[in-house]
Amino acid sequence: MAIYLNDVSRTFGEYLLIPGLTTKQCVPQNVDLKTPLVRFKTGETPAIMLNIPFVSAIMQAVSDAGLAIALARSGGLAFIFGSQPVEAQAEMVRKVKKFKAGFVTSDSNLTPEHTLADVVALARATGHTTIGITDDGSPNGKLLGLVTSRDYRVEKDSPDCKVKEFMTPFAKLTVGEIGMSLTEANQVIWDHKLNTLPIIDKDQNLVYFVFRKDYDSHKNNPDELLNANNKTLLVGAGINTRDYELRVPALVDAGADVLCVDSSDGFSEWQSSTIRWIKQRYGGQVLVGGGNIVDPEGFRYLVEAGADFVKVGIGGGSICITREQKGIGRGQATAIIDVAAARDAYFKESGVYVPICSDGGLVHDYHMVLALAMGADFLMMGRYFARFDESPTKKLKIGNNYVKEYWGEGSNRAQNWQRYDMGGTETLKFEEGVDSYVHYAGKMKDNLNVTLGKIKATMCSCGAITIAELQKNAKITIVSSTSIVEGGAHDVMLKE
Ligand code: IMP
Repeated sequence: MAIYLNDVSRTFGEYLLIPGLTTKQCVPQNVDLKTPLVRFKTGETPAIMLNIPFVSAIMQAVSDAGLAIALARSGGLAFIFGSQPVEAQAEMVRKVKKFKAGFVTSDSNLTPEHTLADVVALARATGHTTIGITDDGSPNGKLLGLVTSRDYRVEKDSPDCKVKEFMTPFAKLTVGEIGMSLTEANQVIWDHKLNTLPIIDKDQNLVYFVFRKDYDSHKNNPDELLNANNKTLLVGAGINTRDYELRVPALVDAGADVLCVDSSDGFSEWQSSTIRWIKQRYGGQVLVGGGNIVDPEGFRYLVEAGADFVKVGIGGGSICITREQKGIGRGQATAIIDVAAARDAYFKESGVYVPICSDGGLVHDYHMVLALAMGADFLMMGRYFARFDESPTKKLKIGNNYVKEYWGEGSNRAQNWQRYDMGGTETLKFEEGVDSYVHYAGKMKDNLNVTLGKIKATMCSCGAITIAELQKNAKITIVSSTSIVEGGAHDVMLKE
């Protein structure tokens, strides 16, 4: 006989939070939204902590390099979409890793024997006017000088003029030494009124540049999610259960910090094999999440395969028609509550904490707080991010409204066969997602400020200044359909 789960499967709109005691410490400035991304043992620190509990969906319409940079700069993490050729995805990862946050490898280099014409052509090609002059013209050759736009006048100087005639020679440069911290480098920049500080090794080889403008922008992005050692932005990448033997090495070489197997139904032997292969091949050094699942059995199966985090959610995504097409899924709130209990039980039993991610279906900002309060460690969103300038899709005007395109990975448009078939060779026979528009919402940063402000205010009402406190102390109630009506403006005539 089939197993019946008698509890109704519910979603976030059916719940509300009941305020707890708001102490004087409970003010938004004191709220810390840091949260673990990957598994850790009791007493250890996770290899990656997010500074805000948001990751972006593994989707063509959401997570390219541009969005990944913007999100990491705000403290979250993007998973670059995997429904593209391996090399194209690896290139997106490289682009994020090269982003200038702190120490950067110079991408514009020439030798002293090059000419002003070469300088002008290079500056035009890269868009950068600071050029490292090295003995062999490579980014890590022996540093002989520096050229900036202040060293020449294109209208007056001869294009044939040699770089060595107008560069600032090494002897006149202020340089930093490898091993210097970003704070120290910035101090030198400040003390010497520099725009660029070249960092060299003991043999005078150029290793990095530190730019003044990065210092300023870092101050404007205090939550930036950086690799502690090389100061690159963190980025994730989606993978599938078919070409992982090719894709994973390319992504790891490109510098991906974490991977995630992307599947609408992750409770499968294909997924287990993929995770086990990665763990074995890299001796456990490469981090990889799994999913999606909606119950404790699925959670434990992936955890035992070695998943570093587990994504929860089937059928709740805004563009998703999986429930209609296949009849599988579960109300997102119930799925999170159930899987969070399994995570806590596993932690108690093994001393290993495996974070869970609530993926899909978050509509209002308070849904995010509910998902966290119910036990999610972080949240994956597609629609939310697709609305911003930074998402890769076109902005269009329809009637009087600006919209952006947003389509599911299981739609014909995404042609993402791997995600939706069952690991064999057959191609997609039906769609699990739609092609749609979402209301354009402007810059990511402005929207995140509002959303995070609301989340912090709600947490303060619940008497919690960390996500862990929220999970421990939240009081949650189910609402009736009539009380939902009562919750909106009612019995008034709204002014336009
Ligand atoms: P949203 O934040 O509600 O828009 O949901 C985004 C999530 O929907 C993604 O992270 C995926 O888990 C899921 N998803 C993406 N594409 C499809 C699809 O075509 N069908 C079903 N689910 C999808």
